[in-house]
Amino acid sequence: MELSLLPNDIQEAHRDFPASLAGCADLDALMRLKGAFVGRDGSHAARLMDLLKAAPKEQKRELGAAVNTLKQQWEEALKTRQGELEQARQRDAALAKAWDPDLPPPLPTRGALHPLNRLMERMVDVFRPLGYHVEEGPEAETEAHNFDGLNIPQDHPARGSADTFYFKGQDGLLLRTHTSPVQVRVLRRIGARGADGLSELERSGGIRFLAPGRVYRKDEIDPTHSPMFHQVEGMIVGKGIGMHHLKGTLAYAMKALFGPGADVRFRPSYFPFVEPGAEMDVRCPLCGGAGCRVCKSSGWVELLGAGLLHPNILAMAGIDPAVWSGFAFGMGVERTAMMVSQTPDLRLFFENDQRFLKTMGGLD
Ligand code: PHE
Repeated sequence: MELSLLPNDIQEAHRDFPASLAGCADLDALMRLKGAFVGRDGSHAARLMDLLKAAPKEQKRELGAAVNTLKQQWEEALKTRQGELEQARQRDAALAKAWDPDLPPPLPTRGALHPLNRLMERMVDVFRPLGYHVEEGPEAETEAHNFDGLNIPQDHPARGSADTFYFKGQDGLLLRTHTSPVQVRVLRRIGARGADGLSELERSGGIRFLAPGRVYRKDEIDPTHSPMFHQVEGMIVGKGIGMHHLKGTLAYAMKALFGPGADVRFRPSYFPFVEPGAEMDVRCPLCGGAGCRVCKSSGWVELLGAGLLHPNILAMAGIDPAVWSGFAFGMGVERTAMMVSQTPDLRLFFENDQRFLKTMGGLD
C-alpha cells in the first residue's frame, strides 16, 4: 500500500513491527504491543480509523482498503507470535514441574550382564547346592567329541552339512551342535588312569557338573530358532544312579526356575548317548496351554533332553558301566528365557535393544 499516505509515526512503527514482535520475550510484552497496534483506543489502528472517517469522500475507498489490509497484517502476525509464546510457556511449566530438586544428578550408566548370561548363571546357582561345578569345552569342536564319543552313528542326519557347520579344509572340525561333547571330554579325563593306576573318578567317587555355553546349528532364524543359541549341559556319574535321581533332580530344578507351580511333563524320547532317553516340557506360559505360535499349538514347550548315560559312552571313555552309572541332560537356555519371561520371540534376546534388555531384570 501507499505508506506515504500514513502519519509518519505510524509509518515508522510499521517498519519496526517485525523487530518489535520478535523482541517480545513473553506474553505480557506481546499484549502491550498488541494494545499499541490494534487496541480499542489510541492504537495505530484506531487512529487510522479516525483518519479514514475524516478523509474526503473520493479518498475513502482507497484509504479504507489500505487500512484494512494493514490491520489484518498486524493481527495475523500478533496471533502467530502469541501461539509461539504460549507454547514456550507450556514447555517451561512442564520442565519446572518435571524437575525434582531431591533427585540426584544422573550417574554414568553401568554395563550389565546380558539376560541370557544371567539366566545361565542362575541355572548354575540352582545346581551348585547339589554339588555341581562348571566345566567348559570349546565351541570349535571335533567330530570325535561332538558325535563319535556320543555313540552317534555315522549315518545320523545331524552329521550332515545341512545341519552342522563344518570348518572348510579342517578335517573333522565343526561348530559344536550341542554342549554334550563336554560330557565326552570330562568322561575321558575322569576315566583316564594315573600313575597310581587309579582314575580321577575312582579317587573322587563321582562327579557332578554343568557345562553352559553356545551351540550352533544350521537353522533358519524365526521366533523360536536361531543358528546360534545356548544350552546348559548337566551330568552326574556315580554308583547306583537311576532314572528316579534324574527325575527328582529335574523336578527340583524346574521348581527353582519356574516357581513351585511349574507344570512340567516328562516323556520318553531317544538320543543315541542315553538309555532310556526322555524329554521334559513345560506347559506354555505364553498361552497357558491353550496353544499358540510359540508352542506350535500343542500347549507344551520342550525344554530339555535327558536320560541315563548309555553304557557305550562310559565304556568308550574307559569307565566300566557295570560299576558306574549316571545321567545327563541338556537344557535350552533361550527356550527357558522365553518361558520364564514370557517373551514370544527369541530374536529379541539377540537384537540388543536396550529398552527390551532392561525389562529382563526378572531373569536375575
Ligand atoms: N544334546 C541333546 C540336544 O541337544 C540334549 C541331551 C543332552 C539329551 C543330554 C540327552 C542327554 O538335543
